[in-house]
Amino acid sequence: MALIQPKAQSFLKERMGVNVQKEGLSGWFMVFEPTERLHLGAEAEVWKGTWFGRPAVRKQRRPRSWRHPNLDHRLGVRRMISEARLLIRTRKAGLSVPCVWDLDYDGGQLILEHLDGRPLIELLNDDETTALHAESVLRKVGAAVRALHRVATTHGDLSSNNILIDGEDVHLIDFGLASVEYDVERFGIDLHVLDEILGASHPQWEGAIDWVVAGYMAAEEAFGPAPVLQGGAVPTAREVHTRLEDIRTRVRYHG
Ligand SMILES: Nc1ncnc2c1ncn2[C@@H]1O[C@H](COP(=O)(O)OP(=O)(O)OP(=O)(O)O)[C@@H](O)[C@H]1O
Ligand SMILES: [Mg+2]
Repeated sequence: MALIQPKAQSFLKERMGVNVQKEGLSGWFMVFEPTERLHLGAEAEVWKGTWFGRPAVRKQRRPRSWRHPNLDHRLGVRRMISEARLLIRTRKAGLSVPCVWDLDYDGGQLILEHLDGRPLIELLNDDETTALHAESVLRKVGAAVRALHRVATTHGDLSSNNILIDGEDVHLIDFGLASVEYDVERFGIDLHVLDEILGASHPQWEGAIDWVVAGYMAAEEAFGPAPVLQGGAVPTAREVHTRLEDIRTRVRYHG
């Protein structure tokens, strides 16, 4: 259970509009009510539930038995903090990612806003999805990835499970492997991971990556060039696309 400490009260008031005193929630308090398990992965167990009555998810880190417990704990904590940090950073930049509501890194728990929508994998595997719809969704996915890259952030695990489609909106989740980057290679790898997954898991949508790339390029036209940030200049959409082609060639010839 996530616990709320008195020092978090001002955060709750400012960010969530919850008055801890008034609502009789002072002191240590269990706030996450689980309802349904969404996922049991190698690294994390994810539950849906409520946090102060709002739809939330709890991501609980799972110990890896083959690692030394101290090392495992250190790596897990580092990854969880990094995930929270990058979610906060990208959300502040206006991206559609879950809000971070609570982090208990000793207990290995992250509480996030629950976002509605269907995983892209489901939508692409649905027999009712038309080519026109798939194209429009994948263009939007490309635009969402460019919006992420524009703020010097790579996702690191762009699978069709980690992209949620909610009507006209595209949400990105699972920032456990995300990082702040300026070197074009990691940006190209993001698109390449998506390319490989679209080819392997969704072969019926031949050319799907071309729609993603079209959306990626169009987003640069729409948003304009990426601003130069503290760490330098973010690669342009064209540079990332060229790198994707290079990576593809490398993989084809060297496996
Ligand atoms: N904020 C959220 N809103 C809605 N659903 C979510 C959210 N976060 C996670 N999920 C659901 O839980 C699943 C697993 O979460 P996530 O991808 O963050 O874990 P994971 O890091 O992939 O775990 P592992 O690496 O152990 O497989 C997602 O694919 C998604 O279906
Ligand atoms: Mg995931």
